[in-house]
Amino acid sequence: MKSGLPIPQSDAALPIVTAGHPALRAIATAVPDPTDPAIARLGRILVNSLYEVGGVGLAAPQVGIGLRVVLFSVPARRLTGAPDDPEQGPMVLVNPLITPLGSETEEDWEGCLSLPGLTGRVLRPRRIRYQGITPAGAAIDRTVGGFHARVVQHECDHLDGTLYPQRMPNMSTLMYADHRLNLTALLAESTMS
Ligand code: NI
Repeated sequence: MKSGLPIPQSDAALPIVTAGHPALRAIATAVPDPTDPAIARLGRILVNSLYEVGGVGLAAPQVGIGLRVVLFSVPARRLTGAPDDPEQGPMVLVNPLITPLGSETEEDWEGCLSLPGLTGRVLRPRRIRYQGITPAGAAIDRTVGGFHARVVQHECDHLDGTLYPQRMPNMSTLMYADHRLNLTALLAESTMS
């Protein structure tokens, strides 16, 4: 490993580690040089790992690599329709920084490849500014809301050892995803009564 970074030599997908693994509890290390070719390789490893299982995002600690690198995407089917919630193809961001904007929060369902099968209602700031560097060296600085803001916050939480249940205001909504449609119906009923 010429770069000295703990990154495999191959682009091949890595297995996704699950809750309890030490990499998911640790504070990930900042990347000294985001344009190091090994970081571009880590980006490809994340893309390949995510592609194998399906999903909208993955953080390096989820493949057992404790570096501040995330991958996320915002597919059209997940858009909330808000003007600040733009679609986004797969993006690798190095050393991301999030600044919550305003006081508005939003609760919505989340799942995580490191908590297979589970889902729960998670409360987060609705709008954020996020900054970071791509492996190609481009500086990213965006203000977003809705699902776009949610997926970026979820992935960046992994860099600080935080999993989404730690952000759930009501743990009774933690469940296996196949029960979720029933609960959504129940919640809709309860808001109408
Ligand atoms: Ni996750």
